[in-house]
Amino acid sequence: MQVWPHPPVTAHRRPADEQESRRANGADWDRYADEYQATHGEYLGDVGFLWGPEGLTEADAGILGEVAGRDVLEVGSGAGQCSRWIRSRGGRAFGLDLSHRQLQHSRRIDEVTGVTVPSVRGTATALPFADGSFDVVFSSFGALQFVADIEAAVNETARVLRPGGRFAFSITHPTRWMFPDDPTEEGLTAAQSYWDRTPYVEVDDVTGETAYVEHHRTLGDWVHLLAGAGFRLTTLLEPQWPEGNDRPWGGWSRVRGTLTPGTAIFGADLL
Ligand SMILES: C[S@@+](CC[C@H](N)C(=O)[O-])C[C@H]1O[C@@H](n2cnc3c(N)ncnc32)[C@H](O)[C@@H]1O
Repeated sequence: MQVWPHPPVTAHRRPADEQESRRANGADWDRYADEYQATHGEYLGDVGFLWGPEGLTEADAGILGEVAGRDVLEVGSGAGQCSRWIRSRGGRAFGLDLSHRQLQHSRRIDEVTGVTVPSVRGTATALPFADGSFDVVFSSFGALQFVADIEAAVNETARVLRPGGRFAFSITHPTRWMFPDDPTEEGLTAAQSYWDRTPYVEVDDVTGETAYVEHHRTLGDWVHLLAGAGFRLTTLLEPQWPEGNDRPWGGWSRVRGTLTPGTAIFGADLL
């Protein structure tokens, strides 16, 4: 069994700016990538598009609309499973991710499957593409909850989309912020305020360096962000935990998923 070399950390709630978040999360995903792919790769599918731990697929959800013949950017693409599915459907999907190691996994799976996702290392807050390059931008649990400067990330998405383009993304459902990240009954008791946006920050006990940062926005914040960047929100999916899924994923599980939503999936059109 592979063991993720996670450093001993202490969790804090305190501010963390974009630079600190990016530096910590890039290194964290580099450390975690092998374990992540070993644990979840089979469930994700090398050429598969899941929106979250519940197992909702894009084939069933259809949030992106027609992808064949479209230019598509995946932000926080990891090992490129979703983009590879889009390629298999005739879309021109490209990946962007902060983690070098995740992108190495993407290359490995490109070679195994023969379905290549051209990908670049970068950050959601400064997309290395010209204005109006894409018809669709999406992110399946990718960068959005890891960035501090979310206005920059949403505005960058709007910039690289063509008029009428589609933006869709999944994140941890904002209401989960209230609960401990625990898949058991213990994770069903609200312990902190839904409205407290103070970031979750892990600090390495040995080096004192920031090891991981996660940011929270309420549902209302997301509506405000999308409208402010010129999007019209058309879709908010909150998938129910399905009958046939007994596979826990971190804090996501049947125990919690039958009572509270674990994933929020937004779909919006650029006006
Ligand atoms: C939970 S994974 C999701 C990847 C893929 N969609 C999947 O389902 O496996 C989150 C990804 O977001 C990437 N990421 C984190 N912060 C980012 C940022 N600021 N810009 C781009 N990617 C980022 C991580 O490196 C990681 O690969």
